[in-house]
Amino acid sequence: MTEPKIRIRNLYKIFGDHPDRVLPLVRDEAMGKDELLEKHNHVLGVNNVSLDIFPKQVQVVMGLSGSGKSTLIRHINRLIDPTGGELTVDGEDVLAMDETQLRALRRHKMSMVFQKFALLPHRTIAENVGYGLEVQGMADAEIASHTQHWIDRVGLSGYESHYPGQLSGGMQQRVGLARGLATDADILLMDEAFSALDPLIRYDMQSILLELQNELHKTIVFITHDLDEALRLGDDIAILRDGGMVQQGDAQQIVLKPADDYIRDFIKDINRAKVIRLRALAEPLPQGAAPPEGLPTLPAATVLDDAMLAMSGAPGQTVLVERQDGTLAGTATLTQAIEALHG
Ligand SMILES: Nc1ncnc2c1ncn2[C@@H]1O[C@H](COP(=O)(O)OP(=O)(O)O)[C@@H](O)[C@H]1O
Ligand SMILES: [Mg+2]
Repeated sequence: MTEPKIRIRNLYKIFGDHPDRVLPLVRDEAMGKDELLEKHNHVLGVNNVSLDIFPKQVQVVMGLSGSGKSTLIRHINRLIDPTGGELTVDGEDVLAMDETQLRALRRHKMSMVFQKFALLPHRTIAENVGYGLEVQGMADAEIASHTQHWIDRVGLSGYESHYPGQLSGGMQQRVGLARGLATDADILLMDEAFSALDPLIRYDMQSILLELQNELHKTIVFITHDLDEALRLGDDIAILRDGGMVQQGDAQQIVLKPADDYIRDFIKDINRAKVIRLRALAEPLPQGAAPPEGLPTLPAATVLDDAMLAMSGAPGQTVLVERQDGTLAGTATLTQAIEALHG
């Protein structure tokens, strides 16, 4: 079993004058966000969240505005202290760290990419990208070569000596991403990093991130309130409501088995054919049975949108579903696909 990179256990955050005093009401008496505010004038930011985030994965945290996403992610680098719960990164107790240890954690182990880019306006693009390296105390020549590398990687070659104000929003967020990557931190915390961008530019940024991730294998915590973005980027998706976790799973699990009406509402307009994969349909062959002859074979990761034409032309409208390791997951039929699309 792989150890989680980030382990969050029974995390609570309550905002107000006496969070410790009201915590038992939430923890032991299951008082919800509305009641806590009404009766005790405290805001329930995070309510008993447990989440294991595994190395090299993109963990999406999704939820409506105010559901606790930013509060949750800011615990990971301890910009926020919890009211209760546990948090470890690489097995180390983040809540027990002193200022020196926290500074090291924030400088070397994780970097954050913000929605509003948070670039320094009077510094050039190169100086912005190199900022974290400067803070780390790296030598100038080394900073210059690192910085150039990441500027090139996000497609901003030629803009090194421009200032942020001279760049479009999409380009500024490329700078934000390059700055986040430059320090070589293995954890990237991205809080609605693409939410302020126009849809096409946003899609481009997602593509850049996926491309880089294919190569860099960071552990990424990506916050969004956009389902399409969540489904495209997330290896795993955690959905928050009123500070609590309502469902966690991959895109398939969430689309095929929404936990409640809040999530059903989130997913009602998505194109299921582009999310549901053959893997979800595959019916194993009976023990010891040889696979039927003459059926086309498709990878288990094929989305139904790409699979259905092949299915309709196949004998018995049936295909064989093959896992990534080459083993057979089973068969899938066009009828099953149609049923899955209609939920
Ligand atoms: N510093 C704070 N003081 C009081 N309430 C806060 C503070 N920060 C966040 N909250 C409240 O906590 C809840 C979660 O906020 P937030 O984590 O920012 O949500 P999201 O990022 O999902 O939009 C909201 O009800 C918000 O009003
Ligand atoms: Mg937020």
